[in-house]
Amino acid sequence: MPRIQFPRNFVFGSATAAHQVEGDNVHNDWWAHEHAPDTNAIEPSGIACDHYRRFREDFQLLRELGHPAHRLSLEWSRIEPAPGEIDRSVIEHYRRVLGTLRDYDIEPWVTIHHFTSPRWFIERGGFTTEDNLDALVRHTELLAREFSDLVSHWCTINEPNVVAELGYRFGYFPPRLLDAELAARVLTNFFRLHARMAEVLHEHARTSPQIGITLAVQAHEPLRLESEADRALAARRDAETNGVMFEALRTGVFSYPGKEPVPIPGLREASTFVGVQYYSRVRYDGESGGPALPDFNRILSHMGWEVYPEGFGPLLERAGATGLPVVVTENGLAHDDDRVRVRFIADHLAEVDRVRRQGVDVRGYFYWSAMDNFEWNFGYGPKFGLIEVDRKTLERKPRASAYFFRDVIQQRGFDDELVQHWSG
Ligand code: BGC
Repeated sequence: MPRIQFPRNFVFGSATAAHQVEGDNVHNDWWAHEHAPDTNAIEPSGIACDHYRRFREDFQLLRELGHPAHRLSLEWSRIEPAPGEIDRSVIEHYRRVLGTLRDYDIEPWVTIHHFTSPRWFIERGGFTTEDNLDALVRHTELLAREFSDLVSHWCTINEPNVVAELGYRFGYFPPRLLDAELAARVLTNFFRLHARMAEVLHEHARTSPQIGITLAVQAHEPLRLESEADRALAARRDAETNGVMFEALRTGVFSYPGKEPVPIPGLREASTFVGVQYYSRVRYDGESGGPALPDFNRILSHMGWEVYPEGFGPLLERAGATGLPVVVTENGLAHDDDRVRVRFIADHLAEVDRVRRQGVDVRGYFYWSAMDNFEWNFGYGPKFGLIEVDRKTLERKPRASAYFFRDVIQQRGFDDELVQHWSG
């Protein structure tokens, strides 16, 4: 591999989400889901990484690891545990969190909604009706008022397609429904929300803010290239996820396959970047009508996902075709062998470099995740972290991949020798 080099202003960092690291987020829908008698969550989140109390120690480590930016989310259900009731102590807490990042010269990238919602909001119907959306717009306004002096990089909604599909269509995430119609409506509502949240953020910003929605993108491919049914299913799944979201950002119109197009006021002007979150590919079997088993000739992650860097570049190109600058807001691997993680990061950064040289405006890369954490229904088994977290003592320990990433950040690039050094 030739030397990979990024420009000085290319942003590097890592990401977390409140519910996965903070601990004791008792007021949200995930906590309820984890404790439901018929839950499909392997274990409850409990204390998570106790990051709510240990954030200083964690940010100190990220500083030592040379991270110039950090993506984190603020937990809505902590700030507003009951409708309209704002817990000032939590606002003060998050001011300390964001202030600490600033003190350490780490630029905060704040996600407003990362999978979890207050229980009261979901009990009212959550994202299924347009009337409900005001609640999250009001919450955004509160965040903008309270934190705009500390934050200028905002991610409005994390992976709207994952929340909509896994929660409302495939019954895997709360509220565990099996309703494709409703899932499409929820996804549309998330794009409505993005436009409205961005408007509020722009209004309250001190300096020109960076605002994006972060999309889960996957490579959708046919199991057998020669099978028309496989190709059609892969194309349909691509259109329902990657396609509809990229097109909505490009045109301002949400055109879910088979549904009336919905023009969304303000959507085209909302974003200053598009967040891309890439992990793997899925192959489709037209005969069974669903996803096929992964390709066992490839390296599989602890999640059972194929390591498939070649799927990344084409999706970055499509993200770039929205006309927006692209930021990789998540890319990462759960694996027990950290050497595989070093190669994973190198191979995915090489794809970023390749498309950049072809003119795609990719401006940053956040590794998922800063530390091992609560992997939703999978619990604490999968280890995505650059930093290992001992589940008994909660002690933090950077892995070799964390030092590899530190060197990449410091050199703004890498060569084979550096990859060898940390993965050999
Ligand atoms: C989510 C993270 C999650 C990661 C790995 C993304 O879907 O934003 O919360 O932990 O992928 O599954």
